[in-house]
Amino acid sequence: MKKIVIFDTTLRDGEQVPGCKLNTKEKVELALHLEKLGVDVIEAGFPISSPGDFASVEEISKAVKDAVICGLSRAVKKDIEVAAQALKYAKRPRIHTGIGTSDYHIKGKFNSTQDDILERAVQCVKWARNFTDNVEFYAEDAGRTHNEYLARVIEKVIAAGATTVNIPDTTGYCLPHQYGEKIAYLVNNVPNIDKAVISCHCHNDLGLATANSIAGIINGAGQIECTINGLGERAGNTSLEEVVMIIKQHKDLGFTTGVQAEMLNPLSRIVSDTMRMPVQPNKAIVGSNAFSHSSGIHQDGFLKDAQTYEIINPADVGADSSKIVLTARSGRSALAYRFQKLGFAFDRNDVDTLYEQFLAVADSKKEVTDEDLETMAKQYSAKEKVIA
Ligand code: KIV
Ligand code: ZN
Repeated sequence: MKKIVIFDTTLRDGEQVPGCKLNTKEKVELALHLEKLGVDVIEAGFPISSPGDFASVEEISKAVKDAVICGLSRAVKKDIEVAAQALKYAKRPRIHTGIGTSDYHIKGKFNSTQDDILERAVQCVKWARNFTDNVEFYAEDAGRTHNEYLARVIEKVIAAGATTVNIPDTTGYCLPHQYGEKIAYLVNNVPNIDKAVISCHCHNDLGLATANSIAGIINGAGQIECTINGLGERAGNTSLEEVVMIIKQHKDLGFTTGVQAEMLNPLSRIVSDTMRMPVQPNKAIVGSNAFSHSSGIHQDGFLKDAQTYEIINPADVGADSSKIVLTARSGRSALAYRFQKLGFAFDRNDVDTLYEQFLAVADSKKEVTDEDLETMAKQYSAKEKVIA
């Protein structure tokens, strides 16, 4: 099994979400949770961006014992120096520096040339190496960068001392096979690629961030950059819980991670509360409906054998046990199950009679509750007694 390095950027790319701003105390607490979760690298912030972010990276560096602490910088000497200063207490510091390599960045953002950007990329890595031997280079918008030029940049930055090379699909544009081919192209065309770990950093603008990251590791990448609940710029980043569970459920892929899966749901809730960012109910692994069954066909199959409709045991990801939700789409077996859970032992005929009443209630509201069921059951039992 190949161990995939899990690089968490909840506190940097995740915190860039409008309204998610965290103070230093909150960031340190989350960093300690992330370390317990078992992530390998914590991107703690962008130290030159504000005094608050500098302080957060510094305090996280003091508090965290095992995980690598990473600080972001642009390909600017001052940025790199400030990142190094913020990381000075880190037991295992990493500087993450880089520059845009697509034509959109080279021409539109920098009004520059490929050769000039290549030179700036090499210089920033060399400068960062003066402060630590753990340097990650990012080729921003690598997703839309010509593979040939990208390969040249990657070869030169590895020669300059980069130990991880990040290939961001910054705009979430790539299709999984394209992103996978990009990684394979680098594996096959960068002569010194074995000297560095290739990292996937995918955004979710087309809902493909997780699929692209998985395509990346299948094609030779060794690190995935991700966030809890998939938080991040615009439509977000690759969601940590999704990649961890894909790797866990598909052992055939031959990958493993150091993440404690049973902490995924509790930590998802902590991050959601701290960042004041609700999780969509249908979110994979951590959404409130991720283990709920509401249609009759599914409920019947689930009650016979949970694996018919569930590929993950909720306990394995720290979620509450599966829920049988009663709606107008539910069937008799679900109704009988819920009555039984409330302590009412009705036979088949009883359930048939009660089912008609249940449908009338279910059609009038979104979900039938335990209270509704109790009322129904008591009225039915009283009537039965009178008849008897
Ligand atoms: O999306 C991106 O390209 C980034 C880089 C700064 C790594 O977040
Ligand atoms: Zn990003």
